[in-house]
Amino acid sequence: MRILGIETSCDETSAAVVQNGTEVLSLVIESSVAEHAKTGGVVPEVAARDAAHKIMPAIEKALADAQVDLDAIDAIAVTAGPGLMGSLLVGVETARALAYLRQKPLIPVHHTMGHLSANLLGRAKPPQFPVLVLTVSGGHNDLILWHDYTQVQRLGQTIDDAAGEAFDKGARILGLGFPGGPAIAREAEKGNPNRFDFPRPMRHSKDLNFSFSGLKTALLYAVRDLGGIENIPQKTLADLSAGYQEAITDSLAAKLFAAIDIYPEIREIHLTGGVSANRRLREKCALQAQKRGLPFRFPEKIIYCTDNAAMIAVAGFYKFKAHPGQKWDWREVQATVKREWF
Ligand code: KG4
Ligand code: ZN
Repeated sequence: MRILGIETSCDETSAAVVQNGTEVLSLVIESSVAEHAKTGGVVPEVAARDAAHKIMPAIEKALADAQVDLDAIDAIAVTAGPGLMGSLLVGVETARALAYLRQKPLIPVHHTMGHLSANLLGRAKPPQFPVLVLTVSGGHNDLILWHDYTQVQRLGQTIDDAAGEAFDKGARILGLGFPGGPAIAREAEKGNPNRFDFPRPMRHSKDLNFSFSGLKTALLYAVRDLGGIENIPQKTLADLSAGYQEAITDSLAAKLFAAIDIYPEIREIHLTGGVSANRRLREKCALQAQKRGLPFRFPEKIIYCTDNAAMIAVAGFYKFKAHPGQKWDWREVQATVKREWF
């Protein structure tokens, strides 16, 4: 079964063709990151206009790269939410029009369900459920108990910023540009993570929630106390980056492993979302998973960590299989997103 996936929830416009829920026949990702770098973050209207320009060429290229035409597609899966409304509408309306004209089933997909499914891309071996998933990006920061391909339970979430947002805001404070995660990670490679002692927010709280806004403030004060960013030498910038990254990744890993003690039925650990590209986070999680004898996965390729349509196609594939013959229309889409998730 071949699914055409479409993803336009934020600043990426992406289309993909995925076969049988795992084999990526094509994946096109058109980013508007260069536009957003100018403003230091995503401007929703700019992202939506950019998606409107790029969506049809992206779909055409995805079909051409997969060497199929629309007739050979069994269903169309599209991110229905959450995300920036203008950007989402571009993807949903395009998918809706194509599905209507070519009489294809249309499957609305929850964006985070897509991120969970990113760990199925290119992998022949199915996961052993239940899987504990830490899914972290610029827009969300969730700890999920993944019971089955289409069944999830949220165990924890951020009470303020997502970790990706903390990286992005931290990079802005440090003058490192956008997106912040890769920029801080690159600086941190050259730095000493122990020179600055940043807080580990929520570490001692009994729940499985996260918080990053206090950490961002601590970075702001550290920079101020050093005389402002223009007076900070290169080595100190690297040390600040390393310390900040260490605090974020410690906070994420601590809650992930606290969850294992509460839910002993967990059989596998997954990382996903944009921040799962972070090498330090992967190292910490791999070490802890190994200590507990649990298999550990993160997306096979970096492009599967950040927003992409292949993961949406996979989530759509399993939703389609779980509800054969079901028809979803736009009025249902928002309700579906709400009903399925929290
Ligand atoms: O999943 P994604 O593409 O978009 C959202 O759904 O938000 O994630 C983007 C986020 C950005 O905040 C970016 O700074 C972060 O993922 N990110 C990273 C790394 N690569 C991307 N954060 C830390 N380390 C990285 N290597
Ligand atoms: Zn995302």
